[in-house]
Amino acid sequence: MEEEDSEPERKVLFTSRQIEGTVRKLAEKLKQDYQGRCPLFVSVLKGSFMFLADLVRFVELPVELDFIRVSSYGQSTLSGGKVRVVHGLSLPVAGREVVVIEDIVDTGYTTAFVIDYLRKRKPASLKLCVLTSKPTRRILPVNIDYLGFTAPDKFLVGYGLDYAEKFRNLPDICTIEE
Ligand code: IMP
Ligand code: MG
Repeated sequence: MEEEDSEPERKVLFTSRQIEGTVRKLAEKLKQDYQGRCPLFVSVLKGSFMFLADLVRFVELPVELDFIRVSSYGQSTLSGGKVRVVHGLSLPVAGREVVVIEDIVDTGYTTAFVIDYLRKRKPASLKLCVLTSKPTRRILPVNIDYLGFTAPDKFLVGYGLDYAEKFRNLPDICTIEE
């Protein structure tokens, strides 16, 4: 296959080994905190699919899973303040111990929206588990209960994260020059 000239340059930021170590630690913490209970993990699509798949294999809890897909208006890499639900939940949230599984928190708009959306549905508890956070980019405050990595203000791809739908399948998390 021909390489496109416009392929952005990538540099590995977190290797697949580092990611595995971090996801195992998050799973261990969740296992301790939810011992004897059956939390509902709500994965925010599409970016968190790989994180979720690894996390639930390591977590050793009787978790239940649901998915929500949200979208910011527009295709830009900078998410605007307007978020909407593209694909809603299939399980009731009321009375459940919910853990939101997010790939990345950038400005915070998406996660703040998802947390608000779920809180309105009256879960028994609501926690947030995030693989990667870019705190210097935050506009809306987001309280992260379980955090994997803190990343610099760079655009990241891989391990679920995309640039225009590409690179989600990379096993490492890389930065790209836009
Ligand atoms: P927000 O700015 O915190 O609302 O992030 C919105 C969404 O933008 C995230 O859920 C990701 O889907 C996407 N996003 C933010 N930063 C990155 C990045 O560095 N790489 C890939 N996607 C990102
Ligand atoms: Mg996302």
